[in-house]
Formats: sequence, C-alpha cells, structure tokens
Amino acid sequence: MSKIHAAITAVHGYVPDYVLTNKELETLVDTNDEWITTRTGIKERRILKGEGLGTSDLAVPAVEALLKKRGITANEIDLIIFCTTTPDRVFPATANILAEKIGAKEAWGFDLQAACSGFLFGLATGSQFIESGKHKKVLVIGGDKMSSITNYKDRATCIIFGDGAGAVLLEPNDEGNGIIDSILKSDGVGVPYLHQKAGGSIRPASHETVDADEHFAYQEGQAVFKFAVTNMADVAAEVMEKNNLQSEDIAWLVPHQANKRIIDATANRTGVSPEKVIINIERYGNTTNGTIPLCLWEWESKFKKGDNLILAAFGGGFTWGSIYLKWAY
Ligand code: UT7
Repeated sequence: MSKIHAAITAVHGYVPDYVLTNKELETLVDTNDEWITTRTGIKERRILKGEGLGTSDLAVPAVEALLKKRGITANEIDLIIFCTTTPDRVFPATANILAEKIGAKEAWGFDLQAACSGFLFGLATGSQFIESGKHKKVLVIGGDKMSSITNYKDRATCIIFGDGAGAVLLEPNDEGNGIIDSILKSDGVGVPYLHQKAGGSIRPASHETVDADEHFAYQEGQAVFKFAVTNMADVAAEVMEKNNLQSEDIAWLVPHQANKRIIDATANRTGVSPEKVIINIERYGNTTNGTIPLCLWEWESKFKKGDNLILAAFGGGFTWGSIYLKWAY
C-alpha cells in the first residue's frame, strides 16, 4: 500500500475591502511611497474596518467559499487549526469561535502561535493527523488582523502590515501528492527583536501599558531582516537538497511576504527563476499568518497536479521553516 500524504484539496482566501495606500500612510507618518516601495515592495495593504470584527471574521468568508468549492459541509471537518498572532481574544481559541460561526459541530480545534511561520507550522501539524489516519478532513487557517496591533504612529512598522486570511483543506492522498517534507525551527533568541510588550501574563494590560503603546507590535527591523534574509533562504535550500530537488524541479516558490528583498534573497539562494516566485506583497503587505495561504489562493488556477511547491517563512520568535509539497489537483 502506498504511503498516505496529507494533500491540500481546496484553498480560498479573503482580504477586507478597505485599501490603505502608501499615499494615505504619508498623511499618518513621516514616510513616502518611494521609500516604502524600494525598501519593502509594498504599495498597499487591506484593513478590516468595523467595530467588533476580529480575525475570525476574516476567516469566515475564506472558509465558507472553500467548503462550497470542495462541495462539503462544515460538519464534515474533523479538526480546525487556526494559525494566528492576533486571535479574537486571549481565550477561548479563535478556532472555537470560527467553528461556531461556520457551524462546524463535529470538529475540535486549537490556535497555533508561531508568528509569521504559523501557517507552515499548522500545515505540518495538521498533516500528522491525516498521515496517521486519525482524521480525514483538517482545516488549516492562516489569518491576522494585524491592524489591531499596529501603531499607526510608528513608521517603522505601520507601513508593513495588513489584514487577511486564507484557508486550506487537508485530506488523505495515496497518489504520492501532498506534503512530502518539512523543516521547521524555533529560536528564542528572537524575542527582543520582535514582540508585543504587554497584554500577556508577564505584563497584563493596564492604563500604563496602554499609555506607553505597549500593545502594539514592536520590531527592530534591521535585526529581524538580517536573521530573516539568511534563515528563510537557507531553510528553503535545505529542504530542496534533502529531497534531491534542483531549482528546475520547482514549479513554484511560495515565500512569506514580509519584504520583497527577503523574497528575492530566497529566490536567489534556491535558484528558482523569478517567474516561478509567487509575490503579492505589493497589494497586501505582510498579513503574517495570511501571506502563504493568500498566495496559494491567488495562484491556484496556475498550479498543476504533481507540481513541486516550496513554501518558506520566517517570523517572530524567531520561527522559520520550509515545506515541500506536491500539488494534488
Ligand atoms: O514578517 C516577519 C518578520 N519581519 C520581517 O521580516 C521584517 C524585516 N525587516 C524589514 O523588512 C526592514 O528592516 C524594514 C522594512 C522594517 C525597514 O527597512 P530597513 O531597510 O531595514 O530600514 P532601517 O530600519 O534600517 O531604516 C533606514 C532609514 C532610517 O533612517 P536613517 O537613520 O538612515 O536616517 C530610518 O529612520 O530609513 C528610515 N525609515 C523610514 N523612512 C521613511 C524607517 N522607516 C521609514 C519609513 N519611511 N516608513
């Protein structure tokens, strides 16, 4: 009997309507379109507006469209893994909130926090339940309402982030397609460079923390950049080497969208030619857990059964990793 792999059998994404352009950011902080474009590749990002809306509300339209596309009901889902850094609440898990909103009554679920690498960690985790035979349908969502932790007075961070979510369905595949291999890493050396200062158990919310802007994402951009640019490129190359893949064997490189310069470095390191590198950073910025599933969603129609895809990410923690998968449809 051939090995069962966990294959992506459907994908969908959602970005909110509001477009925050570089021009509008020029009215908020001391920046300009030329700086943002040349340093990051970002032109605009999407923002979820409206009282009482959170990350689960970005996921609902993505998941509902995915279920419709696959022709299944929410009750057929066994497990929901919600990868997010901006959960609706500290608790309960956004996976539970989403399950209620989409009417998934038979699923269990949990949130997974690995910053920008979360979606890859979620895919690797979800795939284990499929490969073991425990589950038949696992929903992995990557989504963030980054605007909820972005300080629009801090030009070093507010130009990068945007809101969005994507979802994939994992199902068993016995044709040799699906998730073939992954290399995933974490290193707490990254804590000082990218974190949220307050709101957790070491520094709960108080008037003081709010006044000091400590509930926003704090990033030392240059330091993070240095780690990201080498680690994301290296881990993508490592997963290729481990699986005897040459650059010409890769149909698509799907990099986390944090900075166009980091994406270019990963493409160079792996030797994958520019037309095979998926990039939508100019329209959405860095949606943290949302970037990779949004890329898969937007390029879905170009993928062919058996295509070799290399997914790669780097994020806060630090966390980073790469997944090799063969597209299944
Ligand atoms: O998503 C996962 C993890 N995150 C990342 O991977 C992000 C990694 N880091 C980056 O992408 C980049 O470091 C940033 C885009 C955040 C910043 O770009 P940079 O090229 O590293 O800029 P910098 O922080 O070194 O700043 C260069 C200059 C500074 O001015 P001086 O000191 O040279 O006069 C900054 O004050 O650019 C200035 N600057 C800006 N100027 C205009 C910083 N932000 C801005 C801005 N507009 N928004």
